[in-house]
Amino acid sequence: MSPHSGKTRLAGVIGWPVAHSLSPRIHGFWLNELGIDGAYVPFPVEPPAIEDAVKGLVALGIAGANVTVPHKEAVIPIMDELDQTARRLGAVNTIVIDHGGRLIGRNSDGYGFIENLKANAPDWSTRTGPAVVLGGGGAARAIVGALLDAGTPEIRLVNRTRARAEAIAADFGDPRVAVGDWDRLGSALGDAGLLVNTTSLGMTGQPPLEIDLAPLPADAVVNDIVYVPLETALLKSARDRGNVAVDGLGMLLHQARLGFMSWFGGEPVVSDALRHFVLGG
Ligand SMILES: NC(=O)c1ccc[n+]([C@@H]2O[C@H](COP(=O)([O-])OP(=O)(O)OC[C@H]3O[C@@H](n4cnc5c(N)ncnc54)[C@H](OP(=O)(O)O)[C@@H]3O)[C@@H](O)[C@H]2O)c1
Repeated sequence: MSPHSGKTRLAGVIGWPVAHSLSPRIHGFWLNELGIDGAYVPFPVEPPAIEDAVKGLVALGIAGANVTVPHKEAVIPIMDELDQTARRLGAVNTIVIDHGGRLIGRNSDGYGFIENLKANAPDWSTRTGPAVVLGGGGAARAIVGALLDAGTPEIRLVNRTRARAEAIAADFGDPRVAVGDWDRLGSALGDAGLLVNTTSLGMTGQPPLEIDLAPLPADAVVNDIVYVPLETALLKSARDRGNVAVDGLGMLLHQARLGFMSWFGGEPVVSDALRHFVLGG
């Protein structure tokens, strides 16, 4: 680790709990690799303290912070400005504090999702076929937005609680988003070019995602944004039948780049060495 000076730039991640966050390892790796005089630390903030904590960042001259569960929506009214993505998603995962002490809320999940696909499924394009997105939470919303921005001609959004998927489709108000039936998941896969799991199913401690991939075309890409475990049962089934399978860690690593560049400068790279380090190697 580089020694700190009187000019050390500071950032961190605000969450509750926050001890499980991989972000300090990600940013710590880049600070070290790029030789930047900076530090990135966890900020455990209980929900009632969120406003004081965020205003405290400004008072302390901190460059900014990532925001994770359960604060992504709660910080919205505290921001002085929201970028278009954060406004559209109603969630902030990156706060940048400008030189005037103004709090700017951003959301980099969609960027991370697309950059991860580009890096790990370079043959995928929106022209490969419709995208099937499983889920109806914050991650599904970010990914639907990113796929629309990327020009995906058809998105089939399928969630256990259909009303949540319908609310996302209504908020985007784009005819390219169609809501499917959770009980007939397989019927959405027929001519798909991309299948993305944004539910928490398949995560350690959660039930498995039960899905029969038989109808999925062989050239479709399968992406699970769950990254604990790294190789989910969904990714294993996809790989076993010859589909390109993309894990969720890359999305986390790529989304982190935007915050890092705003707070510390430099050009952080998502490399195998970073993946290895973040996984504890
Ligand atoms: N790789 C990354 O960078 C990244 C970024 C963000 C999130 N994530 C991961 O993505 C997942 C979702 O995050 P989120 O913020 O969208 O969470 P969320 O808002 O809580 O949404 C959870 C989703 O999982 C579904 N779900 C939960 N239990 C289910 C069950 N038993 N059967 C069927 N569906 C179930 C929910 O369906 P209902 O609507 O029916 O409850 C909902 O669609 C988490 O595992 C998170 O760690 C990864």
